[in-house]
Amino acid sequence: MMQKKIDEIVNKIKSSKKYKIILEETIRDVLTIEYGRHKSIKIAEEMAKKKLHRIRAEYLGEPNYKKVKDSLAAAFQSGNDEEIKEVCWTIFSKHSSTRERNQLLDEYYKKLFEVTGMPNSVADLACALNPLSFRWMGLPQSVKFYSYDVNEQFIDLINYYFELEGLEPLGIQRDVFSSPPEIPVDVAFLFKMYYCLEHRQTGAGLEVVKNVPAKKVLISFPTINLVAKKTDIL
Ligand SMILES: C[S@@+](CC[C@H](N)C(=O)[O-])C[C@H]1O[C@@H](n2cnc3c(N)ncnc32)[C@H](O)[C@@H]1O
Repeated sequence: MMQKKIDEIVNKIKSSKKYKIILEETIRDVLTIEYGRHKSIKIAEEMAKKKLHRIRAEYLGEPNYKKVKDSLAAAFQSGNDEEIKEVCWTIFSKHSSTRERNQLLDEYYKKLFEVTGMPNSVADLACALNPLSFRWMGLPQSVKFYSYDVNEQFIDLINYYFELEGLEPLGIQRDVFSSPPEIPVDVAFLFKMYYCLEHRQTGAGLEVVKNVPAKKVLISFPTINLVAKKTDIL
């Protein structure tokens, strides 16, 4: 009986304009956990919507997919590296998480990989548009760059870009909390995501870090929150 009600709410949320691009598994997991916590389906639905709003994070910014795919295709067609970089820069700058790293990018990955060693394989967990900054990472073309996100539009754009770049299309729509990646990698990135996981469920951030089959995990935190207040961890 309750399972039927949960299915109904999951279907309703999944068929809405806002959540149709988010994995059904994520919607179900969040709703089920909230039901377990509150024992009231009405409160569970309300709480799940609040949590999904933060997971969906539309407010962080998204590109016009059709337009940016056309710009990418034209830039690669031109064969001009500067133009390709400029188009990628414009795209990832639409998202506030990647935009926050813009001024650091020339040194960012160089410094990180000095510590971890140059990886042959990477898992970018909850990547959003970060894989579009591939050209600033200094990684070889042979790298296996697994990019995980629950948002199918990000994954579709990432794979479109990877194919133009001559990389394997390793963008994968996956919930890294409810279905931890299984492919072993040298280095995993968990950038600006820890608080979002903790908001979903206390302890989820650490769970994701523990479960990822990576030799090293690089974790970053935002320096300011969205109302421009400094956060406690820099
Ligand atoms: C704050 S952004 C992180 C951005 C990215 N890591 C960066 O620093 O540029 C949140 C992203 O995480 C994704 N996301 C949220 N929960 C997720 C989960 N459990 N598994 C995979 N992706 C998730 C969202 O779709 C969104 O693209």
